[in-house]
Amino acid sequence: MKIAIMGYGTVGSGVYEVLVTNAAGIATRAGEAITVERILDLREFPDHPEAHKFTKNVDDIINDKEIGLVVETMGGTEPAFTFACRAMKSGKSYVTSNKELVAAKGPELMALAEENGVSFLFEASVGGGIPIIMPLKECLAGNEISEIMGILNGTTNYILTQMFSCGASFADALAEAQKKGYAEANPDADVLGYDTCRKIAILTSLACGKHVDFSRIPTEGITGIDEIDVAFAESLRSSVKLVGYSSVKDGKAYCRVAPMVIPHDHPLYSVEDVFNAILVTGNAIGDCMFYGRGAGKLPTASAVVSDVIAATTGKISIPPTWKRTDEDVFADVSSSASRRMIRVSSDAAEDVKALFTCISSATTPKAPNEIAFTIDAVSEADFAEKAAKLGDKLIKSIYLA
Ligand code: HSE
Repeated sequence: MKIAIMGYGTVGSGVYEVLVTNAAGIATRAGEAITVERILDLREFPDHPEAHKFTKNVDDIINDKEIGLVVETMGGTEPAFTFACRAMKSGKSYVTSNKELVAAKGPELMALAEENGVSFLFEASVGGGIPIIMPLKECLAGNEISEIMGILNGTTNYILTQMFSCGASFADALAEAQKKGYAEANPDADVLGYDTCRKIAILTSLACGKHVDFSRIPTEGITGIDEIDVAFAESLRSSVKLVGYSSVKDGKAYCRVAPMVIPHDHPLYSVEDVFNAILVTGNAIGDCMFYGRGAGKLPTASAVVSDVIAATTGKISIPPTWKRTDEDVFADVSSSASRRMIRVSSDAAEDVKALFTCISSATTPKAPNEIAFTIDAVSEADFAEKAAKLGDKLIKSIYLA
């Protein structure tokens, strides 16, 4: 199988490295050798051992009839979408790590793959190296999936871990993440939750078989988490994680991206640094957790190369995994019930006890005029009504796992 790589950044160069380093085993498992024929990138790589394979012109790949598969690791919806359409119409399979592309154009690209008898695979688009797309599509296909809870962004998990383990402020933890190369110079996609939003949209689409429009998912990042939240969470033997959450019932999905207080006995509590984890609940399997490196060169390349091998062996299922439908896939948000940790001024303790079913409470020297409560599940509508009664006495509310 002759392949091309489009985008020779961190992940693209990792794909090349894995294909070269593990060439013999990959050839055995794929049933034939996999060789990189062309690499598309606008930059120059004069010192690369196969510098002659680089091109800046996508036509060199699309028009090369010997290339049977394209790996795309560029990111962004365009020009990736145009390139994907052209590649598949030319009879080439398309393997991508690009979550923006899959979240925005997944159904169209899966339909195009079916029409052209090629594969469109995207294992690396969620959870980096963690196998999650294929397990949801195949290994858990006998289940009705009722809930997905995922720590889906390595950068924010690293920042939150620093805030808890070293007492760092958000700004200092972000600066450290940037120094280590985990966070981009412009960290918005990660810290504002946009990256997690696309990933939970993809997983939820897989779970319910219908396209979940990421732009309709309520999304909150971690920029509002401060040292007092950390202090209260710690005194409740909990941590805070950015969680992509969805529950699916009767074909309707409730989705959100938001920070969540995670108690010490919850499976997601110990997921630290750049690690990701996805807790899936199915009606046959019960709870099932996937854990591993959710970002980075070789872990993400591991997932891309698994798709390259799957497409080469032709053992993957062609029918589209999810489709766009006219019916509204989103459940009525107001009826969805969640537990929370709320921070209130100390004089509101009795009001809170009268309004909510309290689970526990905590104080911290960092905020002597406040008290935090964990409260049992209330619907969004109910919470909004009770929060209005507390008025300014309610300082903050964070979802609780
Ligand atoms: N910025 C992403 C993260 C990269 O930190 O998880 C992997 O999608």
